Formats: sequence, C-alpha cells, structure tokens
Amino acid sequence: MYINTKRDVRSVEEIDMINKEVCSTGIRELDFQMSGGIPLGSTVLVTGCSGSGKTTLCMQYLFNGAQNDDHGVFFTITEPLFKLTKNLEGFSFYDKKLIESGMVNIIDLRIISERLGLDAEKYTVEDAGALLDILKDIADELNVKRLVIDSITALCYRLQSREMIRDFIFKLGTSLAAMNCTTLLTSEVPPQTYKFSQYEIEEFISDGIIFLGDIERRGDLIRTLQVVKMRGIAHSRAKFAMNISAERGLELVPLLKTSDVESLLRR
Ligand SMILES: Nc1ncnc2c1ncn2[C@@H]1O[C@H](COP(=O)(O)OP(=O)(O)OP(=O)(O)O)[C@@H](O)[C@H]1O
Ligand SMILES: [Mg+2]
Repeated sequence: MYINTKRDVRSVEEIDMINKEVCSTGIRELDFQMSGGIPLGSTVLVTGCSGSGKTTLCMQYLFNGAQNDDHGVFFTITEPLFKLTKNLEGFSFYDKKLIESGMVNIIDLRIISERLGLDAEKYTVEDAGALLDILKDIADELNVKRLVIDSITALCYRLQSREMIRDFIFKLGTSLAAMNCTTLLTSEVPPQTYKFSQYEIEEFISDGIIFLGDIERRGDLIRTLQVVKMRGIAHSRAKFAMNISAERGLELVPLLKTSDVESLLRR
C-alpha cells in the first residue's frame, strides 16, 4: 500500500530493479524520494535533535537490510547496549534472530575503548586513530554492507580541540570511503535549528544529509524528515511528515497533505 496516492508511484522493488547501485533503507517513501535508496558506498549524516528518531531510522535501516542478506553493524557511543535492545524490542522491524545469527551486530564503542585501555572521556589523536582502525577491522571481519555510528557528535566530543576534531572527521571520512559499505552517522543538533552538525565539519565528509526536524501545528509537534543532500542521485528535497510507531517504525507522508498525520497513515 502506498500513502501517496495522487502520483504515478512505482514500488521500491521496481525501482531497485532499475537501479541496482543503491542501498534501500526499507522505508518506502524515503527510498522513493531517493530513486530507490542511498547510493552504495555513501556516508550519510542523519541529523536531528534529541528524540527526533535518529537511532530508530538507523536501526530500521540495518534490520531491513539484514532481511535482504546485508550484514550490518551499529556502533553506539551514547546508549548502553541493554537500553538500546530494550527500546528496539518494541518495534516490529526488530528481529532477535538477526542479532543471534550475526546479521545485525550492535557494539558499544565505550567497551572497545576500555579494552584498548583508552580514557573513556578524553581521546588523544592516537586514541581516535586506534579506535578507527578497530572499527575498520570489525567492519571487514564481519563483512558488513551497512554501518552506523551513533553518534559522531559524541565521538568527537571526546577529542580535546577543534583541530583534533577536524583532523579526526577527515580521517573518518577517508576510512569510510575505503570501506565496502554504506554508512549512516548520526549527528546531534539543538532543537528548532536548521544546522546539520555540532562542529560544522561533519557535513563535508558526508555524501548525504537526512534532516529530522519538527514543526509545531495546533499545539502538536509534528516530526519531519527532509533529504537535504544526496550526492550522485536526483532526489526530492521536500519536507515530509514522519511518524514513529511500534508496528511500522518510521514512515512518511507528504507534509502539505497532513492535517492529521495519524489518521492519514492509518487510512
Ligand atoms: N516502541 C515505540 N513505539 C512508538 N514510538 C517510539 C517507540 N520507541 C521510541 N519511540 C519514539 O521515538 C522517539 C525516540 O526516537 P530515537 O531514540 O530514535 O531518537 P534519537 O534522535 O535517537 O534521540 P537521541 O538523540 O536522544 O538519541 C521517542 O521519543 C518516541 O517518541
Ligand atoms: Mg539516539
């Protein structure tokens, strides 16, 4: 079923048949906006304020990919594993079997840091470099096609100066470009701002930006999603209303037609 009924809409599966060079997020309307998905090998910044749905979008991307045999890895630095898993269990896209079979791997970067003997709060350039090497080794070892870092903001926060952050972000960009996977980096920004990153460098190593925001309507905060940039493809820059539900995870409807997101989605 398609939410947008007024257009001549091709199914995501059909688009995928036409364009094999994309990585489908499995979020139908989002894939449609990008002609099938994220171009393979891209690094995409998923930007939004706290609670905007960044982690959910990334998890849905990994679990949907795993259903189609793409190995995925989620590196968390903000939330402990038990909390992440507990939240995930509420969503229908979550499938424990995909974790048990190793199709989706969730790894706490703080535990890796500890094992490397790094200071948990402050990284030197060498520490950050060592962490990057481990990240790359894990991605290679697991043969992952989809990689997530949640969040790049928290990772950079552990570096001591703007120069170090700049240096690290560019190294990360180079490392990710050399990997054989499509990456989502979450980026935390303050609420009600049209800013893509904390350090304002993250967007330059990114091939794409997906912006999660919100708008106030009749006292309600409506979630929004906008593909701001996606190198290599023609894509819509329309702002969509976004809903998060246990049954469907993230889903989108055109904002202009939204008088009541819930009722439209359930129609
Ligand atoms: N099982 C669920 N069913 C419906 N909505 C949910 C469910 N779990 C979470 N949500 C919604 O998703 C929101 C949180 O989304 P998410 O954790 O992906 O945001 P985030 O951008 O990663 O936040 P943060 O920056 O704090 O990590 C919650 O505030 C809630 O509205
Ligand atoms: Mg999160």
